Amino acid sequence: MNDTFAVILAAGKGTRMKSKLYKVLHPVCGKPMVQHVIDSLSHLKLQETIVVVGHGAEEVKERVSTEGISYVLQEEQLGTGHAVKMAKERLQDRLGDTLILCGDTPLITTETLQSFIHFHQKEKADVTVLTTQLEDPTGYGRIVRNAAGEVNRIVEQKDANEEEKQIKEINTGVYLFSNEQLMDSLNKIQNNNSQGEYYLTDCIQILFEKGKKVLAYLTNDPDETMGVNDRVALAEAEQIMKKRINQKHMRAGVTIIDPQSTYIGTEVEIGSDTILHPGTIIMGKTQIGQECVIGPHTELRDAEVGDQSVIQHSVVMESYVGKATSVGPFAYIRPGSEIGDGCKVGDFVEVKNSKIGNGSKIPHLSYVGDAEIGQAVNMGCGSITVNYDGQKKHLTQVGDGSFVGCNVNLIAPVEIGAGSYIAAGSTITDSTPSQSFAIARERQVTKENYAERIKGKKK
Ligand code: UD1
Ligand code: CA
Repeated sequence: MNDTFAVILAAGKGTRMKSKLYKVLHPVCGKPMVQHVIDSLSHLKLQETIVVVGHGAEEVKERVSTEGISYVLQEEQLGTGHAVKMAKERLQDRLGDTLILCGDTPLITTETLQSFIHFHQKEKADVTVLTTQLEDPTGYGRIVRNAAGEVNRIVEQKDANEEEKQIKEINTGVYLFSNEQLMDSLNKIQNNNSQGEYYLTDCIQILFEKGKKVLAYLTNDPDETMGVNDRVALAEAEQIMKKRINQKHMRAGVTIIDPQSTYIGTEVEIGSDTILHPGTIIMGKTQIGQECVIGPHTELRDAEVGDQSVIQHSVVMESYVGKATSVGPFAYIRPGSEIGDGCKVGDFVEVKNSKIGNGSKIPHLSYVGDAEIGQAVNMGCGSITVNYDGQKKHLTQVGDGSFVGCNVNLIAPVEIGAGSYIAAGSTITDSTPSQSFAIARERQVTKENYAERIKGKKK
C-alpha cells in the first residue's frame, strides 16, 4: 500500500472570528480545534502529519501537541493552495497519497476518514474530495458536476453564479491527492478569482481537464464536516461535540441527568454508575471513579476522584480526591491538593496545596493552605492556616487524630503533634507536642449587672 501523508491547513487569519486568539486554537469542549483534527488522524497510521501555520505559529506549537507532527510556516496567507505549497518540500519525490484537512473542522471523525481513504484507494483515484449535502450550503465551495455526474471543479461561494449557488453538494475541505498529481496541479493554480487567492480547490479542475480520475466521496453526516469560521459556528460545534461525548459516557454506564447543561472534555474518564447532575463541567485529564455523585453546579479540571465520592456545588482543580469522600457544597479545592479516603470537606472550605489524611474532616468555613493534615483529624468550623507572611508560604502540620477547635488560627510554620487538642479561638504560634492541649486566647471577664450601666450611659 502507498504511504499516506497528511497536511492540516491552519494558517488562515480567521478574520471572521474577530478574535485575538488564532482561529484554530479556539477550543471546542476544552480542546483547540486543530488538536481535534490532529487527534482524528492518530489511528490512521500515517507516514507524516504536517501542520501549516501562519502568524500565530509559535502559539500553535506551544498549545498543540507536537508528537508525530511537523510544522511548516506560511508567512503570508495567500490561500489554501498556497498553504499546501508550503509543504511541498516535504512531499515531493515521496510516493504516496496526501490527505488534506482544514484545522477548522473539529468534528471530523476517524471512522469517516478511514472510509474516505479506503474508497480513494479502492477506486485508484488521483484525487478524491470529501463532500456532503447541505440544506443551506451558503459559504462553502460547491461541487460542480457535468451531465455524466463527474466532478468537474469546485466553485467558491464568492465566485459562484446564481445557478451554481443552488448546488447543495459542498466541498468539506478534506481531500486525498496522489502526491504526484498534487505537486503537478499546485504548480498550475493562479489567483485570478474574487478573493485574489491561490485556491487549493482549483487543483480539481486542473486534474479533471488533464484527464485524471477525480472523485467525490459523499458523507451523509454534514455535522462532521462543519467548518468553524465564526463564533456562531463555534457554539454549534461545541453543542455537537458535547452531545457526542455525553452519549459516549452514557453508553458506558454514566448517568447524566441533564446532558444539555453537562460539559465534559474529550480526555475525561468516568466510571460506571457515576451520576452527573446539571451544571457540571469536567475538563482536562480528569478521572472519576465509579458510583460517584458529581454536581449539581460543579467544575472539575485535571482532577482525580476515587469511587463513591460526592462533590456538590464545588470547584476542584489539579487535585486528588480519594474514595468515599464528600466535598461541598461550596468547597474550592485548589491545585496541588490530595484529599484522602472517607474525608469530608464541607461548605465554604478552601483547600490549597495540602494533603488531608484519610478520615479527616474539615466541615465548614475553613482555609487550609500549604498544610499536611494527618488522618482522622477534625478541623473545627472557621479554623484556618495562616500560611503567608507577605513574602513566603509556610507549612502547617497537624498530626493524626488531632482536634482543632473552632476559629483557630494556625500560624505557620507550625506543627501540632498527633492526638492533640487545640482550644477554640486559639491563635497558635508555637508547635505543640503530641497528646497535648493548647489554649491561646484571652481569659473572659464577666461583669455582673453591668448591662444596666451601659444602658444608662447610652441615655
Ligand atoms: C474552504 C474551501 C471551500 C470549502 C471550505 C470547507 C478553498 C478555496 N475553499 O473555504 O471550498 O467548502 O473550506 O470548510 O479552499 N488556510 C491557510 N492558509 C491560507 C488560507 C487558509 O492555512 O492562506 C487554512 C485556514 O486556516 C483554514 C483552512 O485553510 O483552516 C480553510 O480556509 P478558510 O479561509 O476557512 O476557507 P473557507 O472559506 O472556509
Ligand atoms: Ca473554513
